[in-house]
Amino acid sequence: MTSSTSLSDDRFAFLDLKPDVDFVLDEVFAGLSLEAKSISPKFFYDERGSELFDAITQLPEYYVTRTEMGMFDAHVEEIAAALGENICVIEYGSGSTKKIRRLLEALKPEAYVPVDISGDYLLSNAQTLVQDFPELKIFPVCADITQSFALPAQVEALRPLGFFPGSSIGNFEPSQAVDFLQRVRTTLGSGGYFLVGVDAKKDISILEAAYDDAAGVTAEFNLNTLVHLNEKLGADFDVGNFEHFSHYNPEQGCIQMFLKSLVAQRVNIADKVFSFAEGELLHTENSYKYAKQEFITLAQSAQFDCLQSWQDANEWFSLFLLRAH
Ligand code: AVI
Repeated sequence: MTSSTSLSDDRFAFLDLKPDVDFVLDEVFAGLSLEAKSISPKFFYDERGSELFDAITQLPEYYVTRTEMGMFDAHVEEIAAALGENICVIEYGSGSTKKIRRLLEALKPEAYVPVDISGDYLLSNAQTLVQDFPELKIFPVCADITQSFALPAQVEALRPLGFFPGSSIGNFEPSQAVDFLQRVRTTLGSGGYFLVGVDAKKDISILEAAYDDAAGVTAEFNLNTLVHLNEKLGADFDVGNFEHFSHYNPEQGCIQMFLKSLVAQRVNIADKVFSFAEGELLHTENSYKYAKQEFITLAQSAQFDCLQSWQDANEWFSLFLLRAH
């Protein structure tokens, strides 16, 4: 490790808030005991799941990432002009560094605070960035973005810009999205900016293809949840006995993903047994799509004003620059 990437100096410091990453057996039991069985989408993301999600972002049917990247390219200078100087970018759920590089190049912030639950990945990405952006201060924070956390003391005097790309906000239920935005507001403080990428409502056939691609990558991503549960909890899901099923629910305005049980079967997890009927669905994810005004109203209910918003030429995806009041 070179001096510029030591665990703490004036350009780089790692803050580990030690998020609770224990696999919550009780949470899995509770979800599988419901009349309509359900499991949190967080169980998608083991190492293989993250690789599969990366592969999804490159699929021809999954327009989300491509469209958002094109919008960053088209509007980043405008965003930079709206923000001015002395900015600290706080990225919620930083993951891979692809999107942030473009933003850092254009905004030239004083500091960058990537926040992620996966400490090792966070640290290694941050160490690469600190080499590639020699003017930038980087203070990674290992934390659960769905819980409250405070920013590192080193960035207190800077003007905060929260960054939450990829329509990840769509994976919260709308009421949870409001709770999340309220916590973001508390972290950023009054006057803080928030740049968020949100997937829009569109033709159902386009949405459904994006979540059930021809190459079967999304199916593997969804089924990998069961592999993950087998490995982590010693469950005995027979992955071959389930299949990927997704559809757009127009009443709720979201894509819903499920794993469908192909046979009547029993699954053991620790000392419990769960029965699945043939055709029974296990719900794994909702991905909400918001019309522009719908999202602005949601953000307003969390005390954010919309300063500017952009859509691509097809109106498939929106970028919002919000400000906390
Ligand atoms: C991470 N999230 C924004 C993705 C989405 O589009 O809701 C997760 C995903 N699920 C299936 N494909 C992608």
